[in-house]
Amino acid sequence: MIAIGADHAGFKLKELIKDYFDRKQIVYQDFGTFDDERVDSVDIAKTVCEKIRNEDYNKGILICGTGIGMSITANKIPGIRAALVENVYSARTSKRHNDANVICIGARVSGFSLVKEMINCWLQADFDAQTRRIRRKNKIQSLEQEYNKEEFIMSKFKVMVTDYEYETLEYEEKILKEIDAEFLKAQARTQEEVIEAAPKDVDGLLVQYAQIGEEVFKALPQLKVVARYGIGVDTVDLEAATDHGVNVVNVAEYCQDEVSDQALSLLLACARKTVLLNNDVKSGNWDFSIAKPIYRLRDRTLGIVGFGKIPRKLADKATALGLELLVHDPFVEKEVTEKYDVELVELDKLMKKSDFISIHVPLNENTKHMISTKEFELMKESSFIINTARGAVIDEEALIAALKDNELAGAALDVTEQEPITKDNPLLEMDNVIITPHVGWYSEDAQIELQTRAAEGVADVLMGNKPKYLVNQEVLEK
Ligand SMILES: NC(=O)c1ccc[n+]([C@@H]2O[C@H](COP(=O)([O-])OP(=O)(O)OC[C@H]3O[C@@H](n4cnc5c(N)ncnc54)[C@H](O)[C@@H]3O)[C@@H](O)[C@H]2O)c1
Repeated sequence: MIAIGADHAGFKLKELIKDYFDRKQIVYQDFGTFDDERVDSVDIAKTVCEKIRNEDYNKGILICGTGIGMSITANKIPGIRAALVENVYSARTSKRHNDANVICIGARVSGFSLVKEMINCWLQADFDAQTRRIRRKNKIQSLEQEYNKEEFIMSKFKVMVTDYEYETLEYEEKILKEIDAEFLKAQARTQEEVIEAAPKDVDGLLVQYAQIGEEVFKALPQLKVVARYGIGVDTVDLEAATDHGVNVVNVAEYCQDEVSDQALSLLLACARKTVLLNNDVKSGNWDFSIAKPIYRLRDRTLGIVGFGKIPRKLADKATALGLELLVHDPFVEKEVTEKYDVELVELDKLMKKSDFISIHVPLNENTKHMISTKEFELMKESSFIINTARGAVIDEEALIAALKDNELAGAALDVTEQEPITKDNPLLEMDNVIITPHVGWYSEDAQIELQTRAAEGVADVLMGNKPKYLVNQEVLEK
């Protein structure tokens, strides 16, 4: 193992580091400091990493004030996988440090077990923070210039967006530029199209609707991360991703306000028959009675299927309207149902008792078609079903049959089994069915958040940090 004192603070810590490493029988090597300008961070990274590769040290530590610059540099060296310890949180939580053969320690580190003693001293070190900041900025700039030098062969990260419907990708571009990644854009939806569009050595994919499975993982052996623009990851084969050591990240928290508002607006549109009345007025009539019967909302029952983040927001809003709440979710904790004052029930009871049923489960093999013929038979004739989760949670054929047989009063769907919906779908002809084009997630604010967070997930993985929203946690054991 090698330790390097590479900047002002590193210089001050040298003796302590040496003592500490001697006691631990760790090989210590001093490559000088930034302060006396004898060395340059690119040279340090290059030399250290080559030593680690060639001399079979299993791990190396770079100590520097330019953590991110140093880890970018190190990661570009073939055979080196560098992780950045930037703050207390990443020092304590990132399991990636175990995989990395180089750890870069940034300026603000205050906790990482192996270098704990150094860090304590670091915190006490007497140096001028402002000077250090300026020096760090200059060093990063000089690093960036070094990247362009031909003699320093570096493998850039490559990140491709497989498919997108956004007007601009400027948010992703900005974040990926910070980690010096080459950013490629495609419009590929099937696995074959993705494989054809992606360079063989692509490191990361940003995915909107494209299917990502075993074939993609096999064809792109350097792939380290797939980021899904959204919450649902049903388009990605998680098991195959884990098998291939690929991190799958999503944006788990970006549109809870929007989707819960969408569910509520569909509920209100069902309750008040807004769409039916609007269409009737626009076709030349003025007759409220076509909407009969309409019931007072207060004291009616809303049944929520799946009680995750989005429906908890809906629960608050529905409570304000005076609705009683039933919830079906076998995995939700008791404290949560108590906090939101909802009654936890079996699905059958929820279907029987509710006046409005709102679906919020993720789509997976257990939830596909979980609302089908039997469930519709249990519903009251006056009840409505609302789906803002995923189309295939509802068996659409069974829904169409149930609507034809008047087993329920109507449906409001933001999602359908096939998207876009096919022109011959009988639901399009039904006055008691409201359909919106999978818009629940959307607001201007949510879209910017989505694009930014997805790109951050990719950048985190490529930089060796634990991403905020890692879906296949098991990949950390790989
Ligand atoms: N319409 C849109 O634009 C849009 C946008 C975002 C999300 N969504 C959908 O909304 C869904 C819900 O999002 P969230 O953030 O609330 O998810 P979440 O992950 O926070 O919660 C999912 C909940 O479903 C529960 N669940 C899982 N399997 C279940 C089962 N068989 N029966 C009952 N409950 C079950 C889980 O215990 C969990 O509490 C997403 O999975 C996504 O498909 C749609």
